[in-house]
Amino acid sequence: MIELRENEQKTLLALKKLDGKATVDRIIEASGLAHAAVMRAALTLSEKKLVEMHEQKQKVVELTAEGKQHALYGLPERRLINAIIDSGGKAPIKAVVQKAGLEERFVPIALGWLHRKLWATVEGKQFLRAQRKEIPVETDEKLLSILKERGSVTLDQLGKNLQDAVAVLKGRKLLELTDKTVRELQLTDTGLQLVRKGVEIVSEVSQLTPELIISGKWREAKIRKFDVTAAGPESYPAKIHPLQQVIQKAREIFLELGFTEIRGPLVETAFWNFDALFQPQDHPAREMMDTFYLANPKAGTLPKRSVVNAVARTHENGWTTGSKGWGYRWSPEEAKRLVMRTHTTAETIKYLSRHKTPPIKVFSVDRVYRNEQVTYKNTAEFFQIEGIVVDKDVTLRDLIGTLKTFYARFGLRKVRFWPCYFPYTEPSAEATVYVPKLKRWIELCGMGMFRPEVLAPMGIKYPVLAWGGGLERLAMLELGIEDIRQLYGNNLGWIRRTPMCQ
Ligand code: PHE
Repeated sequence: MIELRENEQKTLLALKKLDGKATVDRIIEASGLAHAAVMRAALTLSEKKLVEMHEQKQKVVELTAEGKQHALYGLPERRLINAIIDSGGKAPIKAVVQKAGLEERFVPIALGWLHRKLWATVEGKQFLRAQRKEIPVETDEKLLSILKERGSVTLDQLGKNLQDAVAVLKGRKLLELTDKTVRELQLTDTGLQLVRKGVEIVSEVSQLTPELIISGKWREAKIRKFDVTAAGPESYPAKIHPLQQVIQKAREIFLELGFTEIRGPLVETAFWNFDALFQPQDHPAREMMDTFYLANPKAGTLPKRSVVNAVARTHENGWTTGSKGWGYRWSPEEAKRLVMRTHTTAETIKYLSRHKTPPIKVFSVDRVYRNEQVTYKNTAEFFQIEGIVVDKDVTLRDLIGTLKTFYARFGLRKVRFWPCYFPYTEPSAEATVYVPKLKRWIELCGMGMFRPEVLAPMGIKYPVLAWGGGLERLAMLELGIEDIRQLYGNNLGWIRRTPMCQ
């Protein structure tokens, strides 16, 4: 005797009704069971060798929105020919269009197909004449009604004629073909014998109710066994985007290290983005190549006159800083131009213009923009992690220590610091990390101590440690991805698979 549960029996009966072989979808329809229930039953039934499960890649045919409309009301040419025949076989175009209630956009289509299908001809430009008294339903219309009824069919369920109709209706953009993996169940010989003998449905109790217990009926009831080790259906609860998680993590680390977060606008004046950082107005980084300048409004306002004058002098001749400056005529107009900020150093310098008393430890994790080609390693908008430390006797070593601690929290231990150049820091360095998987050193951030040419105009009398670097690089290492576009692609599968960061 083969013991079968209710759902297994229902599945078998549905299969019998469907001639012993059917797709899971059709079994669902015929049995009224849920997808998961059929799949579970199929598993047990195939273990008992009563059914076989096949997986097939198949082309699934489905109606487009327009296709659905025509499936409901009839093809435009059918509606038109019906109207012509109803009007006695010959009638003015305008009148039959109106009679058929045809939308304007379907009129040329209907006329074209009346002609191609040889259903009607145009006479004297204004009139339509039906070729026959009655026009039988054609294959394309049969296909439409099959799809209307079933929602979708697989291509190989259709005969040759209907398959040809698929091609025609696809050309008319009334249906779409998509690749799907279709699961199909088939009764084995044993399964067939069993259903022939007649499978009886014994109803099972899946929940012990108070009634069953009180009435004592539980004694006779067939109680359903549960497999507590079976995997439940996957569920995808809402979660924070992996990139946001890395941003949060970076924020938390700096907060734990005693830093305060600052934020600033995405649009800045060139003054804060460049001039205050002692970048000459003809510096190549300012060129259109890298910087997005705003067309409207073009210009913003400069800060108070004393700060502007000090910056101007420093650029021109070094002012009181002991430097010779860049030796050109500084233009306030150039400094007023609005840019999408190219780095968040614009925010730390602006912060310094308003906060001069140490100790200061601030950071930001925020968006910046550069006119760069989008590739696997660059995007035109990205995040920077930025910060400054101001205190009496701080040196570059303190910054190296802080950054080492920060990166170690991301599991990056082989971090090296190399000398390099930035127009606003001296000394300047660059932090890199060795990535064994890529067998390369990867740039993490730029850093240094702000030059006197930067500090003096802001009225800062203490050493300032500054750094700034990309966040996406860090995110890519953390998340194990090699293409930065992955972070912005909204690939749902990847977002679901990516675990919350530890
Ligand atoms: N602003 C630099 C960049 O965008 C990084 C940097 C910040 C370097 C602060 C030195 C000091 O690459």
